[in-house]
Amino acid sequence: MLSPSVSVLRLGHRVSRDKRITTHCALVARAFGAERILLSGERDESVLKSVSSLVNEWGGSFSCSYEPSPLKFCRDFKSSGGTIVHLTFYGLPLSKCLPKIRSSKKILAVIGAEKVPFSFYELADFNVSVTSQPHSEVAALSVFLDRLYSSKELSLDFSEAKRRIIPSAMGKKFHPSIRSH
Ligand SMILES: C[S@@+](CC[C@H](N)C(=O)[O-])C[C@H]1O[C@@H](n2cnc3c(N)ncnc32)[C@H](O)[C@@H]1O
Repeated sequence: MLSPSVSVLRLGHRVSRDKRITTHCALVARAFGAERILLSGERDESVLKSVSSLVNEWGGSFSCSYEPSPLKFCRDFKSSGGTIVHLTFYGLPLSKCLPKIRSSKKILAVIGAEKVPFSFYELADFNVSVTSQPHSEVAALSVFLDRLYSSKELSLDFSEAKRRIIPSAMGKKFHPSIRSH
């Protein structure tokens, strides 16, 4: 169990443009140790379904759900003692904020799509940048989680996996008891 626990809030999903990148945010959140992702913006059953079927195959207890009121969710998270970390290239450098962020018990990492409403900047305990250059929510989230957990998440084991890989220098090896593609 990694500590502090991290939930991810993905803002502003657009069905026509963001299917792939929102799915990748969810996959990165899961693989890098977050407990859940909440998707806001346009409701997209196909993303919810594909993440839940991946969890079913690859194990663990990661959850993915739709959040219709992200600002209210942030307010409630904060009043329940959580810390909000908004990832934005306008923020303070990650290395500067990490020591304080690490003292939190539970974290909500907020990532955007297009323009993030200013109220999220105001509500955040930390507006944090992963470089001050524009790149991607997938990259920002993965670097944030990896730095937060000091790479411990790279050796996570996912319970009840139907698929598990045996790392190999060449070729594709799956656990014998588990079916491969
Ligand atoms: C297409 S970018 C938009 C860039 C955005 N205007 C911003 O504030 O970072 C979508 C999301 O990627 C994340 N992001 C992009 N570059 C980042 C950076 N250098 N540091 C932290 N987060 C970043 C933010 O969560 C942002 O909302």
